[in-house]
Amino acid sequence: MLNSNHESSNDQNKAIGIFDSGLGGLTVVREIIKTLPHESVVYLGDTARVPYGVKSPDTVTKYAFQNTEFLLHQGIKFIVVACNTAAAFALKKLQGSFTPPCLGVIAPGVRAALKATQSGKIGIIGTAGTISSQAYIQAIKDINSQVVVFSQACPLFVPLVEEAWIDHPVTYRIAEIYLEFFKKKQIDTLILGCTHYPLLKEVISDILGPKVALIDSAMFLARELQMILQNKELLNQQKTTGELRFFVTDMPEHFYSLGKLFLKRAIFPVKHIDISNYNKREGRGNNED
Ligand code: DGL
Repeated sequence: MLNSNHESSNDQNKAIGIFDSGLGGLTVVREIIKTLPHESVVYLGDTARVPYGVKSPDTVTKYAFQNTEFLLHQGIKFIVVACNTAAAFALKKLQGSFTPPCLGVIAPGVRAALKATQSGKIGIIGTAGTISSQAYIQAIKDINSQVVVFSQACPLFVPLVEEAWIDHPVTYRIAEIYLEFFKKKQIDTLILGCTHYPLLKEVISDILGPKVALIDSAMFLARELQMILQNKELLNQQKTTGELRFFVTDMPEHFYSLGKLFLKRAIFPVKHIDISNYNKREGRGNNED
């Protein structure tokens, strides 16, 4: 284990540490603070190195370890990997390397999709990295090998959302092109396997129609997190609203302005950090795969 400063006595009062490649993980923060308002949150957006979705498994794993190291220095009781790409490539290694429990977005989304599907045909959309990792397919097959899965990378969705082109005609047209693939597959459930995609829910739903249930992993992650904290007796017992702290690895300005779109509230304060200071121990998981 790389970290040993996990003390059980004060753990309930500690924050939940969440990281993402950038802004997108704020959709996960939004759901967590809705479900667990008394919990404090430390969020790291690795804005200097976003996007992760086009990078190699080794690079993303190295970043995931550095981000986790940073969060551990803030004194956290739980690690949430809000980035689908990082969860796809590095979650098992993080779980095998650090003391605090660690939850990613993939498993909760998969469990929700398996509950939702009637036809047994599920679609997945995500970054090129997430889709090529087959992490979602594997997680589905591990639970139910009979389910038929169709997946499609949608790499242009992230920059479109980052431009706030949420209901722009160009976004709609690009979504039509990507989602055409699912039209003849008769899926009844689609996993939004990327932090940015919940913001495109309306566009996606418009194109695929009301019969396709859209699974936003963030919502289900928040519910599972609540259950895990409860089972581990790690829920914060204080009745005051939790504290939110935001950190980024590049200039905070973009994060301030666009972050509001993701979190649906003002984001303040946002502090810049130098992630290279958390470079020392990386990627030595005991769960190589
Ligand atoms: N946060 C990433 C994810 O959920 C999307 C953005 C990126 O490519 O870094 O996969």
